[in-house]
Amino acid sequence: MKLEIFNVKLNPLKDEDVRAIVCIECHPMVRRWLVDYADEKFEKELEEYRRFFDELQNNDRVEVLVAKLNGRIVGFLALWRMDEGVENTTSIGISVHPDYWNRGIATNLIREAIKLAKEKGVKKLIIETLDENSAMKHVAEKLGFKLETVRKGKIFKDGIHHDEDVYSLQL
Ligand SMILES: CC(C)(COP(=O)(O)OP(=O)(O)OC[C@H]1O[C@@H](n2cnc3c(N)ncnc32)[C@H](O)[C@@H]1OP(=O)(O)O)[C@@H](O)C(=O)NCCC(=O)NCCS
Repeated sequence: MKLEIFNVKLNPLKDEDVRAIVCIECHPMVRRWLVDYADEKFEKELEEYRRFFDELQNNDRVEVLVAKLNGRIVGFLALWRMDEGVENTTSIGISVHPDYWNRGIATNLIREAIKLAKEKGVKKLIIETLDENSAMKHVAEKLGFKLETVRKGKIFKDGIHHDEDVYSLQL
């Protein structure tokens, strides 16, 4: 099976692609690890994502990459430019459909994101993740990200305070 990575600003999504992304984001095995998400209901979330992708071309704060396997979206990554004081810092958000975990999809998406970030003049990439997210931490470390900060108890999720780890990569 052939994995391809596309930049969504150069290859706009069809509605079925947006739907595939929302299916990934709403999957309980993915939700378990996400810190921020808009809504529990699929249709409402789909509307939010349609709006987001409709306006993407005019949004200079974000870049989106999607991973397709045989033409079907199996993972995606967003690069968000941060406001917080630090110059040229961009944050990565990433999700892969659980049916396709451990096949190198996140690794490939982040490698492409590093190339794109360099082209855009980004100086620093960060990944913020729940401390328990061993798979995400492993991928980040494998790609050269270093643990910069542990925000103790920062994330309140499912009735418990969790530590949040911040990994960074200087470009
Ligand atoms: C984290 C996530 C993006 C990884 O995607 P993926 O496509 O499976 O990642 P890859 O296949 O590129 O790499 C997974 C690596 O983690 C390793 N791994 C898997 N589960 C692991 C675990 N529990 N502990 C440690 N390492 C683990 C795999 O062995 C593999 O290592 P390798 O490349 O050295 O062989 C995916 O699990 C996901 O979407 N999770 C839910 C959403 C999420 O957590 N997003 C990040 C929020 S910041």
